[in-house]
Amino acid sequence: MPLLDATATHPITLPDGRLYRDTVYLKNVIDHPRMEIGDFSYYTHSGEPEDTAGILAPYLFRSSLERLVIGKFVQIARGSYFITSSANHPMTGFTAYPFRIFKPETFGYKDLPVRDTIVGHDVWIGHNAAIMPGVTIGHGAIVAAASVVARDVPPYAVVGGNPAGLIRMRYPAEIIAELLELAWWDWPIDKIEANLPALESGDLAALKRA
Ligand SMILES: CC(C)(COP(=O)(O)OP(=O)(O)OC[C@H]1O[C@@H](n2cnc3c(N)ncnc32)[C@H](O)[C@@H]1OP(=O)(O)O)[C@@H](O)C(=O)NCCC(=O)NCCS
Repeated sequence: MPLLDATATHPITLPDGRLYRDTVYLKNVIDHPRMEIGDFSYYTHSGEPEDTAGILAPYLFRSSLERLVIGKFVQIARGSYFITSSANHPMTGFTAYPFRIFKPETFGYKDLPVRDTIVGHDVWIGHNAAIMPGVTIGHGAIVAAASVVARDVPPYAVVGGNPAGLIRMRYPAEIIAELLELAWWDWPIDKIEANLPALESGDLAALKRA
């Protein structure tokens, strides 16, 4: 029996047979014109499934110009969220007070920089992390709990702290290059599941033969 079902709203069934309702597959509960989300990426929160977009990225409005792009197999822990570029107040004048947001005719600061936030595939974002506007997090990266990520994160880096700094690289550069080339996240799900022992044990030779 397959382990994953890309169509599920709540993908986790607990050992006692109950659905774990706090975890949702993002793609199946979010319908937002500025968000793009890949299959199997999940997030855990205690709100209703239909509130997920607002909890994940509270300042990404349907009228925002920036995008939040999240790849496949991304794991986002409870309490983590994205501050996207629409969250910024104007900072070039003598006040940051956003006078123009109060009326529909003037809403939106068109002169503020628009920066997309991009999360690659197979990224693990730990508990209570905040991801700042315009950040790109590379494939396979890990964000430590309670981090504030304000700068780009390279693929397969582990970052942590406020501001998040490099804790270590997960693998040597040549292995990372091979993993990026392999791009297992683009395989059909049955091929991924058939090769799970090699993925889980880190058997690169077996993965390359798959
Ligand atoms: C990032 C993480 C995976 C690292 O795990 P690890 O490799 O076992 O880490 P270690 O405990 O050996 O620590 C390695 C270094 O990272 C630092 N570090 C660990 N967690 C950190 C954090 N949250 N913020 C900042 N630095 C952190 C440690 O201080 C240590 O630094 P040092 O080498 O200078 O002493 C883990 O600390 C973490 O944050 N996990 C997230 C768990 C989580 O949020 N789960 C939610 C449900 S999915």
